[in-house]
Amino acid sequence: MQDRYGREIDYLRISITDRCNLRCRYCMPEDIESFKMSEILTFEEIISIVTEAAKLGIKKIKITGGEPLVRRGACDLIRMIKRIPGIEQVTLTTNGVLLKDNLAEIKDAGIDGINISIDTPDRERYRSLTGRDELDRVLEGLWAALQSGIKIKINSVCPDIDGSQDLSDVFSMIGFAKDNPVDVRFIEMMPIGFGKDFRAIGHDILIPAIRERYPDMTKDNESHGNGPAVYYRIPGYKGSVGFISAIHGVFCQSCNRVRLTTLGYMKSCLCFETGVDLKSIIRSGLSEEDKKKALRAGIEEAILCKPAQHSFDNLKRISEKHVMAAIGG
Ligand code: 5AD
Ligand code: SF4
Repeated sequence: MQDRYGREIDYLRISITDRCNLRCRYCMPEDIESFKMSEILTFEEIISIVTEAAKLGIKKIKITGGEPLVRRGACDLIRMIKRIPGIEQVTLTTNGVLLKDNLAEIKDAGIDGINISIDTPDRERYRSLTGRDELDRVLEGLWAALQSGIKIKINSVCPDIDGSQDLSDVFSMIGFAKDNPVDVRFIEMMPIGFGKDFRAIGHDILIPAIRERYPDMTKDNESHGNGPAVYYRIPGYKGSVGFISAIHGVFCQSCNRVRLTTLGYMKSCLCFETGVDLKSIIRSGLSEEDKKKALRAGIEEAILCKPAQHSFDNLKRISEKHVMAAIGG
């Protein structure tokens, strides 16, 4: 359905767990407490919400977290969502640590694409940023995924780990797109959760530097997926380079999404707390038919209260207080 600004909202991101097997400094501290299992949506509840959302025009689903693959049965959930009438595409965002072990099952469940987060291809910097020495496992997952024929994107937030604004990692990341049909996407760090206090390289610096290095890079107007990323091609490269410039880019006009948090709250915009508590509707004891109706009304309300744009440029106006892992990025 359309929101108040005429944007077609057909994409729902679902955070299926707030837990993670990494501890990226901009996302969660070592000693973070997780929600109780009884508080988070069950798979059955997620299925009911997606079923009603599909009736309102949601066609594409992203499974995210925390790290979605740490939740037992994540592959079964993908399979179940793929079967919901009206759902055309189910994709996954993962840090890649458990990807190789789960790849066959994910593929068999019918996944339409996988985004793998790799913020640095340097083992020591990866360990320092994520708190875990898992880069080798992630890269094994990436190579296996590339060979599986599944559509793969790499996401990187360009951390400025030592404060030097050094772009060598960025250029190494772009290297992945040379011989592989992969989209390497740079996501501008958003001031949400611990990201507020984390130094990253802004796209006002990143994009001109990449243009200078690759002067023959050209804009790719073909659509690559669901989001507001802008893509470029470099002659001779099999893959492409994308930018999700949340802060320095034209972004919100093409917003097509709502989010379902781990706790069952449907969020209208990443930047604000505004949204609708769908879990309390599901657990309210209404009859099945009334529940479905109330869910549809709740989802509609969440879509209709989407703001025209975020306020990441005005920190005081950001009302979102939750950490990214519970929201799903
Ligand atoms: N800003 C931008 N991206 C973020 N992610 C986590 N926190 C932030 C933030 N504050 C990204 C992760 C991962 C994806 C799920 O969300 O790096 O790629
Ligand atoms: Fe885990 Fe992703 Fe957060 Fe890193 S950014 S700690 S991989 S959820």
